[in-house]
Amino acid sequence: MSRFGISGEAKARLLDRLSSLGGTRAPVRETTTARPRLGDPTVYDELDLMQRAAEEFGLTNPFFRVHAGMARDTTEIGNRTLLSFASYNYLGLNGDARVNGAAVEAIGRYGTSVSASRLVSGERPVHGQLEAALAQVYDAEDCIAMVSGHATNVTVIGHLVRPGDVILHDQLAHNSIIQGALLSGAQRVAVPHNDPAALDRALRQAAAQARRMLVVIEGHYSMDGDIPDLAAIIAVVRRHGAWLMVDEAHSLGVLGARGLGIAEECGVDRRGVDIWMGTLSKSLVGCGGYVAASREIISYLRASAPGFVYSVGMPPPIAAAALEALRIMHAEPERVAQLRANATLFNARCRSLGLDTGSSIGAAIVPVMIGSSLRAARVAEALFEHGINVQPILYPAVPERSARLRYFITASHTAEQLEQAAQATAAAVTALG
Ligand SMILES: Cc1ncc(COP(=O)(O)O)c(C=O)c1O
Repeated sequence: MSRFGISGEAKARLLDRLSSLGGTRAPVRETTTARPRLGDPTVYDELDLMQRAAEEFGLTNPFFRVHAGMARDTTEIGNRTLLSFASYNYLGLNGDARVNGAAVEAIGRYGTSVSASRLVSGERPVHGQLEAALAQVYDAEDCIAMVSGHATNVTVIGHLVRPGDVILHDQLAHNSIIQGALLSGAQRVAVPHNDPAALDRALRQAAAQARRMLVVIEGHYSMDGDIPDLAAIIAVVRRHGAWLMVDEAHSLGVLGARGLGIAEECGVDRRGVDIWMGTLSKSLVGCGGYVAASREIISYLRASAPGFVYSVGMPPPIAAAALEALRIMHAEPERVAQLRANATLFNARCRSLGLDTGSSIGAAIVPVMIGSSLRAARVAEALFEHGINVQPILYPAVPERSARLRYFITASHTAEQLEQAAQATAAAVTALG
């Protein structure tokens, strides 16, 4: 039977009949062999369940909403202007005339695509300029930039470790880190969140069987807005002769007085970390990922990481935009300070209104814990009606009992906008009971 209740045979007869009436095209015969669905069957079931639950409770889908303009402090959805807390535009540089200008100039010079892997004929000067500027941020010998942040973690982690090695990552690691670990074939150990003592124990255990150990943490956790004790983690990793990789996707432009990330925030020597990873899609308002490390590691990745060697080079306008955004970040540290002031204010205000913002340090990411996926979706919908765009984070992205709203704060939000959002959120949570 098809989705419409017509048997395969009946459908074939119908198609035959239609084609005999309408022309010479051969009829398409539906295969009658039953095939298992592709992918993970539980995901189809979950999607179906979510759809039915949303219908049952009269909720509209909060995902894939179409925005008419730029991702800034406000956004346009369905002819309405809403206050927005759902973009990573941390330093407020999306749409900045200087960033746009750099992208336009690069298009004029190089077009929109390099149309080849950089290894063969995709290399342009702007690639090297961006990498040199990023290497400097981390006081690293070299850097490599790739077309996707997610794919950077997958290909780099997947390529640096092998079966026989052990990857130890924070329990709350981003999906891209987990996918890279799975691809590598190394043994994977999830370590309790932000717990250097637990990492110490896990490394001691792993050392007995591992050839090499790679520890992967994040500089600023994207679901909770908290940070690791980098000095303590470096000390533990060194003690066990392991390698340390830090994902700075949400730290660059956010942490430290100059936005240089978790090392600056913690006052730690950047050379204490072996591999710095980050993305261009947040503070640098572009798209892509990068790794800054020793010349040896970067040369190895440049010559052999599959996601780099067998993938097109970063589009020049994106590389130029990210490079210009980085230049502005260095030249205008007041943006970093404004972002911190805004996020600190919002975090404190939410707490004073009785909202639970978990372990957020108030640097750019402020979750408001709601407690169940359904409640989180309902509060988000009430806020949407009220003119505030904030995404609910639901199970399975987080455990069901810690479903939440996640506020991304930017340097361009005003104190009035933050106050309005905090009050509206408290009111929506109270109204739900
Ligand atoms: C910690 C972390 N790493 C990597 C990525 C992937 O980056 P991108 O979205 O730029 O592909 C993200 C995405 O948000 C992230 O939060």
